[in-house]
Amino acid sequence: MGREVLSDLAVLERLIAPAGKDVVDVGCGGGALVRALAARGAQVTGVEVSEEQLASALSDDHGSGARYVIGHAQQLPLEDASVDAAVFMRTLHHVPPNELGDALSEARRVLRPGGVVYVAEPLAEGDFFELTCLVEDERAVRAAAQQALARAWLAGLERAITFEYDVRLCLTGVEALRARLVSVDPARATRFDALRGDIAPAFARLGEAGERAGERCFSQPMRTDVLRLLTG
Ligand SMILES: C[S@@+](CC[C@H](N)C(=O)[O-])C[C@H]1O[C@@H](n2cnc3c(N)ncnc32)[C@H](O)[C@@H]1O
Repeated sequence: MGREVLSDLAVLERLIAPAGKDVVDVGCGGGALVRALAARGAQVTGVEVSEEQLASALSDDHGSGARYVIGHAQQLPLEDASVDAAVFMRTLHHVPPNELGDALSEARRVLRPGGVVYVAEPLAEGDFFELTCLVEDERAVRAAAQQALARAWLAGLERAITFEYDVRLCLTGVEALRARLVSVDPARATRFDALRGDIAPAFARLGEAGERAGERCFSQPMRTDVLRLLTG
């Protein structure tokens, strides 16, 4: 049986019910999830390593009440036991492989008793992965993130829930794909432009036509782990 097609937010809401909770969004990027969680009644802190991304999150936040801070997953700028949920939405595989254990230990440090670490990671499969591989093959870093999760006990965490789903991702044209990929890592701009001759036909061939002119819709399989404090 295929995976259910769901949004990242719908899965997160289903699995950790964020309303009323203190949540840190680690690697918050442009802040879309921070704003969505704040709108659902969570007290949210967005932590982001890129000043450019954080500036964009701040300018798009029109009074959500969220807090934004520059920082690394490996050294969170938060007090011990200060949040109910530490969320890594598509972020864990961006942490250097030899520092993944530090990132999970930091998430554990900031959790209150009863808190959870929520990790949603894209799987290395599906037509969106095939497309993005042309710009950067993330197979190794995604595998490293999964290995770190399998060893989460080293950080004092254990898996409580694992759930896989598909995100349907629609983009209107190759420029929208470029903007999405480059926002995560500006170094991708040069590679993207050099490879445009391969990327444009792949964009037209993979996925399926969307509802708007020039739109293509792709499938991105995801895996979510909810980790809780290891007891005993
Ligand atoms: C794929 S983007 C995901 C952004 C956002 N969570 C989302 O789902 O749209 C990964 C984000 O992690 C950030 N990042 C990379 N390394 C990081 C680190 N060590 N600590 C915190 N954030 C990091 C990047 O700057 C980028 O904004």
